[in-house]
Amino acid sequence: MISTIIETANSGILSSLGLDLHMHVLPGIDDGAQNMQDSLSLIDSHYRAGIRTIIATPHIRIDFFKNSRESIHNAWMELTNVTKEQYPDLEIKYAAEYFADDYFLTLLQKREILPISGNYVLVETSLRHDQPYFKDILKEMILQGYQPVVAHPERYQAWHNKPEHYAEIYELGVIFQINLLSIGGAYGPTEQITAERLIQQGWIGALGSDLHRVSQYKYIKEAVENPYFKSLKDAKLLNHTLQSD
Ligand SMILES: [Fe+2]
Repeated sequence: MISTIIETANSGILSSLGLDLHMHVLPGIDDGAQNMQDSLSLIDSHYRAGIRTIIATPHIRIDFFKNSRESIHNAWMELTNVTKEQYPDLEIKYAAEYFADDYFLTLLQKREILPISGNYVLVETSLRHDQPYFKDILKEMILQGYQPVVAHPERYQAWHNKPEHYAEIYELGVIFQINLLSIGGAYGPTEQITAERLIQQGWIGALGSDLHRVSQYKYIKEAVENPYFKSLKDAKLLNHTLQSD
């Protein structure tokens, strides 16, 4: 009974978004869903919330998550074999969330990149440590014709006390993607306030959930109640562009 009430309360809360372009939903290949049951719980929550397109973005980071096109494709096949009957109007695609390092540069040079769509590539840097070469990697991506989508800029601790750094990165021509989980307070007040400030500045080009597990869904519910999320209603987001593609 309680779960029915919760599920009803979630109904349609993300319909305005329609598409999630950052999610760790593929089973057993990164620190997100560990098995098919975890994947299906995440899918079910998102479907009830009104999401009809999911771009799965498992980590590719050579020292932690040695994913490849093949490992991601196989996990995607495994998941969609199960979901296509249960959720016929749900589209699941796959890409990756790349950690910006030397390995990523070699993939770029070989053009072995899984974009979220077209030339849009989701890229992250260290949450805790300053990586001064991140800016150079973004420039290299742009030079090679890719459009960097910087995952969760509000989460990088080394940037929190350097507001000018956000401008430096943004002005390179990247898209900032913030996490719904940040808006919902999942990581703490600094990440939440930083996300809100970026929204206020009009610097947000994309929204992603970055969900790893279904227990985080309570923060999605918090996020949609946040006035800053509501203020994005008429914003031009990559989510909507990709949804209509
Ligand atoms: Fe992520």
